[in-house]
Amino acid sequence: MARETVKIASLRDLRPGQMLFAELDGLPIALANVDGAIYAFGDSCRHEGGPLSAGLLIGETVTCPWHGWTYNVRTGKSIVPPLGLRIPTYPVRIEGDDVYIEIDWSEE
Ligand code: FES
Repeated sequence: MARETVKIASLRDLRPGQMLFAELDGLPIALANVDGAIYAFGDSCRHEGGPLSAGLLIGETVTCPWHGWTYNVRTGKSIVPPLGLRIPTYPVRIEGDDVYIEIDWSEE
């Protein structure tokens, strides 16, 4: 089965405006809480692999801490040049305090 749903974090560790790093079988994943909405996306910047979860989150925009590339955490799209790049995003489900993501390993 290539697609699975995995508990990746607890909501109590991810307050509004915060980001969190998680690793899933070696895959670096970032979580962001944007006004109560949780988004999951690839933690590695498309430039040189900077850790996006250690960057700056303002609204839906994350800025890489290394050289400042920016992405929309909901869509994964870069929002300043180079446009058209995309980081992976993962569907999120919340059950109580548990944060689950859906991941398709055939796409990773
Ligand atoms: S590694 Fe992210 S901007 Fe360079």
